[in-house]
Amino acid sequence: MLYSEQVMEHFMNPRNVGELENPDGVGQEGNPTCGDVMQIHIRVVDGTIADCRFKTFGCGSAIAISSQITEMAKGKTLEEALAITKEDVASQLGGLPPQKMHCSNLGAAALRKAIEDYMARRPAELVQ
Ligand code: FES
Repeated sequence: MLYSEQVMEHFMNPRNVGELENPDGVGQEGNPTCGDVMQIHIRVVDGTIADCRFKTFGCGSAIAISSQITEMAKGKTLEEALAITKEDVASQLGGLPPQKMHCSNLGAAALRKAIEDYMARRPAELVQ
């Protein structure tokens, strides 16, 4: 199985590993087939994702995807972050082997759930 240089680089040097103290939103997604689980924490300031961290129990692709999507999410508005797809993440990583494309869904889904968690916690802020 061939991985891109970007996948290998993010796997070897993952960004934004860990968790945020008192995160504004937390999202978790798992794949029941392989058993991998990804959790994403977000900090939201003025409708923008100011910080983003991850904890992932999973394969090398899942680690690289976690690292990549946290980098992609930071600095984006909630609307922009919600629009990130699994294909966007895979593309930024220079592609994934076909049998690993399902891994990219974990990142997009976990980020979406973190944003939904934020929205559920702070509905008043959304009326702007
Ligand atoms: Fe399950 Fe990669 S094999 S997320």
